[in-house]
Amino acid sequence: MDMNTTPRRLADYVFPALAEVEDARIRQSLEAAFRAEDEALATIEAAFTRVTGDYQSAEKLKYFFRSWSMTNNSAMCVSGLGNRMTMQLRDGSELADREALLEAVASLHRISDEDLGAGSATLHWDLYYRMATTICEGDDWQSHRYVTPEAESFKRWKDRAALRDKDLMMGLLSTLVHEVYTHGEVEFVEPMFQQWLATTSDFEPTERKRTLVWITCHCNGTETRHFGHAQQATLHYLRAHGLEMSDYDMEGVFRDYLQRKAAVMASLIEKLDFSPVGRMRFQPLASAPAAAVTA
Ligand SMILES: [Fe+2]
Ligand SMILES: [Fe+2]
Repeated sequence: MDMNTTPRRLADYVFPALAEVEDARIRQSLEAAFRAEDEALATIEAAFTRVTGDYQSAEKLKYFFRSWSMTNNSAMCVSGLGNRMTMQLRDGSELADREALLEAVASLHRISDEDLGAGSATLHWDLYYRMATTICEGDDWQSHRYVTPEAESFKRWKDRAALRDKDLMMGLLSTLVHEVYTHGEVEFVEPMFQQWLATTSDFEPTERKRTLVWITCHCNGTETRHFGHAQQATLHYLRAHGLEMSDYDMEGVFRDYLQRKAAVMASLIEKLDFSPVGRMRFQPLASAPAAAVTA
């Protein structure tokens, strides 16, 4: 690929996905949010550039992987939101279109199939565990002490939107922005992580590949497909309840998400080494440990 045409910003991956969104209001609100939050996106990019820039001590990396994990691995949020929709069916909530609510649940579940290993038994959490444990040289990165307050607050906000906010649309809107943002993030970071491990580790290419499966399995269409299902779930849900999109400050929710994500990544920049401490090399683990957590 011509270097001049290589996308260099996270948003360079997001906007083409947004251009294909059929619903004009969803498309325009997301485009406006990503345009308005350019500074937040630059902060996020800086964090990934910093962490993959050179050797970081294992202790710093534990903060990075533990806190980063608080912003992804959100399948439980998506599934919980589906549970809540079926509660509306169970409780006989007043609906404009019952069938549409069932379709909303079905679309929602297609977002979390891969994450939960539905049909494959490969849980994405296990893949994240392998990546983080290999790079952090052990699995104590899982300790809660590596969660920054900003990461804690991001997860609380997202869990609340999907699992507790009375209006389930908050969960759907946060899922919409999450899926398309994540598409941008994984595509943006994938070459950086490949390059990082190639230059700072003794990993064989196969070991490198195994370590980074959590990233690569989300590239090349996985997240854009999830984003498509999130759009469908939202449209079905609106129909089910006879709601209008204009009832919601969609751009506001999307911008909130991006600002909160940027705050997490900014907190991690502070944890990372500013100056290289000398070229040290990661050692591949003799065998990848079994995952301690599998949900
Ligand atoms: Fe996943
Ligand atoms: Fe996803």
